Amino acid sequence: MGSKLAFGWACLLTCLMVLVTEVRGQVKFFNVMNYGAVADGATDNSEGFVRAWKEACEWKGRARVLIPQGTYMVSSGRFEGPCKGLMTVMIKGVLKAPTDPTKFSTENWINFRYVDRLTVSGGGTLDGQGQVAWRFNDCRDNPNCPALPTTMRFDFVTNARIHHLRSIDSKSNHLVIFGCENVNISSIRISAPGDSPNTDGIKIGHSHRIGIAHSTISTGDDCIAMLSGATKIHISNVVCGPGHGISIGSLGKNGDEDDVSGVVVRNCTFQGTSDGVRIKTWASPSLGRASDFIYEDIFMEHVGNPIIIDQEYCPYPPCNQEGSLVQISNVTYRNIWGISDSKVAVTLRCSGSRSCKNVVLEDINLAYRGPGGPATALCSHVNGRSLGHQTPPSCI
Ligand SMILES: *[C@@H]1O[C@H](CO)[C@@H](O)[C@H](O)[C@H]1NC(C)=O
Ligand SMILES: *[C@@H]1O[C@H](CO)[C@@H](O)[C@H](O)[C@H]1NC(C)=O
Ligand SMILES: *[C@@H]1O[C@H](CO)[C@@H](O)[C@H](O)[C@H]1NC(C)=O
Repeated sequence: MGSKLAFGWACLLTCLMVLVTEVRGQVKFFNVMNYGAVADGATDNSEGFVRAWKEACEWKGRARVLIPQGTYMVSSGRFEGPCKGLMTVMIKGVLKAPTDPTKFSTENWINFRYVDRLTVSGGGTLDGQGQVAWRFNDCRDNPNCPALPTTMRFDFVTNARIHHLRSIDSKSNHLVIFGCENVNISSIRISAPGDSPNTDGIKIGHSHRIGIAHSTISTGDDCIAMLSGATKIHISNVVCGPGHGISIGSLGKNGDEDDVSGVVVRNCTFQGTSDGVRIKTWASPSLGRASDFIYEDIFMEHVGNPIIIDQEYCPYPPCNQEGSLVQISNVTYRNIWGISDSKVAVTLRCSGSRSCKNVVLEDINLAYRGPGGPATALCSHVNGRSLGHQTPPSCI
């Protein structure tokens, strides 16, 4: 009798354990088609998408929101956590943003917030339909220009993976990462015309441990921009162009900012970009620090300013005569080669009030084939050293 009871208890426990592991490990699909989605490219699917997300977010196991193949109009999608299990959003179809200006008043089109352990993938496309919106952008002349929506934004998302997605013709930024930690982005294709205004590829602020790999970015502004509070950013195997290159900054515009540090850019190609690897700070009285950057194994294929530090950035004068108060230190450029489209292939224009510290140029081979060649390098207020091959001759 005693042994029977013990057997019963053991059995019950085992059953319970099996049940718990099953729920934890089980994948449950939340297909948007079961939430009223219509893939006709015209019906607004925002509500159905958000309802599918909300139910998935309550599921304690592995929840998978599925957007099957087809074309879906979505006026806005706000996907909030915290969620109870592991969230995956599989975008297999094409999401289209509205073109009517009254319908894109929000700052973000697709927005994930406060989610831990998120995957967004599926091979689908986010079409920002920016062509109509771009003419409303007057940011070139108007410093208070109204914001156009970002295609996909992640706020306070942790331990996430974003991969196998396309973003085309964003109205402004394609992808923004803000307040995030441990996010890996890979196999992403981003494209917008080279003359589309402010269509940054990936913008990162106040985030740590962000990886970007095996991706192609062609756009009208920075391919990748790292702003205040971006630390431990690892970028590799990215092809950038057209666009404005991979940038730190601009920094030092809006009062004192958090440090930007620990950025590695490795094994990347720049094709026909206006700038290559760039660090840009405003000639304004704001304090800040930008340090520990490594740019390594980089091919420049017709790039305007392949290597550039500009601490006298001043699109809206008047500015600080002595340049920026952002301290730049520990910057290494190693094994960077290719063709510069401007005679000054290396520009290290540091600040008169905060000279750059420990800038290293190692094995640089940048040719300029235009009139007035060969290529030259320009330095002001730079401390550091150069090693190995130097074309143009180093100015440090
Ligand atoms: C991101 O990649 C890094 C380096 O490969 C890895 O250590 C980390 O666990 C990855 N994070 C996620 C969320 O996959
Ligand atoms: C570097 O990039 C090249 C071509 O873009 C690629 O073939 C190679 O595998 C990459 N190397 C590493 C270490 O990722
Ligand atoms: C620059 O590098 C040196 C030596 O590796 C280190 O001691 C220093 O803290 C670094 N400076 C900054 C601002 O990170």
